[in-house]
Amino acid sequence: MKRIAVLTTGGDAPGMNAAIRAVVRYATNKNIEVMGVFRGWWGLINEELKLFNHRSVSGIINQGGTILKTQRCLEFRTAEGQRRAYETIKKYSIEGLIIIGGNGSFTAGHEFYKKYKVPCIGIAASIDNDINGIDVTIGSDTAINTALAAIDNIRDTATSMERIFVVEVMGRESGYIALEVALAAGCEDVIIPEKQFDLSAMCHEIVNGNIKGKISWIIVVAEGAGKAEEIARQISEHTGLETRAVVLGHIQRGGRPTAASRIIALNLGEAAVECLLNGQTDKAVGIAKGEIVTVDFEFAIKKKDLRVDRLYNLIKVLT
Ligand code: F6P
Repeated sequence: MKRIAVLTTGGDAPGMNAAIRAVVRYATNKNIEVMGVFRGWWGLINEELKLFNHRSVSGIINQGGTILKTQRCLEFRTAEGQRRAYETIKKYSIEGLIIIGGNGSFTAGHEFYKKYKVPCIGIAASIDNDINGIDVTIGSDTAINTALAAIDNIRDTATSMERIFVVEVMGRESGYIALEVALAAGCEDVIIPEKQFDLSAMCHEIVNGNIKGKISWIIVVAEGAGKAEEIARQISEHTGLETRAVVLGHIQRGGRPTAASRIIALNLGEAAVECLLNGQTDKAVGIAKGEIVTVDFEFAIKKKDLRVDRLYNLIKVLT
């Protein structure tokens, strides 16, 4: 293999830059050329790519986001978009693709491989940690720590002013961030898409707690399970207690990657290049049970069972 390309697609995740660095440095040290593709699939469709060298990835290991930029590219879902991407791959003699991204990125990579047989290896990067068969993705640890720092701050004011807070965290289809951060921040309750939620039972508990002198509560809600503003309004209406809503939003996607996110990224960057060199394709690399594993794209994109019960119940029993 003489030349490969690397791209980041879908939502960015802190640690993507560390993964790009590992891919570029490891491959170039093995005398394989690496082209950096800009803005994900869009860059392949529109021929926005350039040859990277050792220096192209200097000073990025500590930066959030992605120097390659990223987007959710609707055009790549069309046959014409895929055909144009393939033309670019042929034109630049690219023999393998490394796709750094999450679920949507691997779905697209799988479709593209089936059609054009360009060897594709994915690197699991997503703050949602929603890749099936993979325990930890690049960026999830950073996102949890960012949300944790914010909720720790909220607790100061919640306790001081004896208020209830509903804090919305990211996770359209996944309660992963909500669960981890609610546990680590000692929150009183959590609302996630994977579990039924009974607002009147929660309000009842809040009122009972209030009678016994427990005044401030922090409830974490995953964005896919409800809107903080609306839940806060209902709690306030049912309990008569002062309730505020905070939406953490995209601050969870940015920031300096933690050591854990970087170390996973650097390991997976090397592993992805090795996979391509060993003739593997249509697979994602990730970490499971502390080891680097490869998972078929077809399996990786299936709905991940987060086994939420243990953490969910732990949050409840520790309240
Ligand atoms: O990348 C995953 C994620 O951050 C989800 O948690 C969130 O629902 C979604 O992306 C937001 O996407 P966008 O930035 O495109 O609105």
